[in-house]
Amino acid sequence: MSEKAFVMIKPDGVRRGLIGKIVNRFEEKGLTLAWAEMMNVSRETAETHYGHLRDKPFFGELVDYITSGPVFAMIVEGRGAVKNARSLIGPTDPAAAPPGTIRGDYGLDVEENVIHGSDSPDNATREIALFFNRM
Ligand code: PPS
Repeated sequence: MSEKAFVMIKPDGVRRGLIGKIVNRFEEKGLTLAWAEMMNVSRETAETHYGHLRDKPFFGELVDYITSGPVFAMIVEGRGAVKNARSLIGPTDPAAAPPGTIRGDYGLDVEENVIHGSDSPDNATREIALFFNRM
């Protein structure tokens, strides 16, 4: 069954000109880019998106980072889109992410880890609604 995942190339990925290379990874895997927008994330949206991390010591830096420049927000669609997107993206910390994953190939450390992907179909629905005001 087809599924939708929310995927966001973070400001460092956009700044470094990685959009084309990253989108290509999803397309090569067989997932479809169903919707995409370059956008600036407001502090309010960032704080909602990362609300579950409000008590973490890095919360303020995370919100500063995600609002520091445009992001490229996408809906990636296909069979098992959430799981498949997460496996293409790799573990949270690029230093621990294997080569061949997006974070493993393009990131250096967890403060700026290039890309976000929803971790469950429920969160994908929530994130798509938050960022695009749509299902
Ligand atoms: S946690 O602590 O296990 O709930 O967090 P985790 O799932 O590993 O990461 C959630 C998001 O927080 C970001 N993160 C950080 N940002 C800045 N500094 C530090 N130390 C840090 N650790 C984690 C991480 O990039 C995740 O962002 P998303 O966009 O959800 O991938």
